[in-house]
Amino acid sequence: MEAVVQLFGIERVYRMGSVAVHALRGVDLAIYPGEMVAIMGPSGSGKSTLMHIMGLLDRPTAGRYLLEGQEVHRLGDSALARLRNRKIGFVFQAYNLLPRATALENVELPLMYAGVVRGRRQRAMDALERVGLGHRLRHRSNQLSGGEQQRVAIARALVNNPSLILADEPTGNLDTKTSQEIMALFRQLQREGMTVVLVTHEPDIARWAERVVVMRDGRIIEERRDGHDPVG
Ligand SMILES: Nc1ncnc2c1ncn2[C@@H]1O[C@H](COP(=O)(O)OP(=O)(O)OP(=O)(O)O)[C@@H](O)[C@H]1O
Ligand SMILES: [Mg+2]
Repeated sequence: MEAVVQLFGIERVYRMGSVAVHALRGVDLAIYPGEMVAIMGPSGSGKSTLMHIMGLLDRPTAGRYLLEGQEVHRLGDSALARLRNRKIGFVFQAYNLLPRATALENVELPLMYAGVVRGRRQRAMDALERVGLGHRLRHRSNQLSGGEQQRVAIARALVNNPSLILADEPTGNLDTKTSQEIMALFRQLQREGMTVVLVTHEPDIARWAERVVVMRDGRIIEERRDGHDPVG
């Protein structure tokens, strides 16, 4: 089966004046369709940098990246942006919704960027149904709970039917119970065929993934398949 993501020797160096920060020091990683992978590791180990590169928000300083078999490190900025819009759904710790826009409007946004006109509203409604928010379509995001806001963000990530969902500490702002509900939702999406990569500091969150990648100092130092399914 072709990998969704293939990374070979990915490096990322940030230049800060005369100082070079080696955020990634040679990362090799393959992620296959329908996988749920958790990335763990201490603060500053390069997790977010890696997510940004996988999500085409940033470019590696060195190395190769194939997204569904396509070499992406050669693409120009606009081609990269188009690819990102079509293939990647992002979920952030802080939700990153437009506060005064409704749930529906927030979820429609990626479709607007993609130039979708016909069926836009319906697709946004379907995505919100899928995350269990069919009863909150007209709420503004500042009228929703944290868990509900994260569901809207997940619906927004899903609505373009991406190849990959990337979630950087998606439960970082949520209480334990809500965190588990959000993870159950990711798990449900994975069962429906979605590929999910998430960053977390918490073993209780990482347990939901079947595969755990541990980073340290810009490298993958460990890969485990000991994650088990808390649902049983
Ligand atoms: N834009 C930037 N400019 C300079 N250095 C950066 C930049 N972004 C990240 N870094 C540095 O790169 C390293 C990796 O950062 P990164 O954000 O990927 O860590 P992380 O594993 O996500 O940490 P956390 O768990 O705290 O979110 C850190 O040392 C950080 O200071
Ligand atoms: Mg981070």
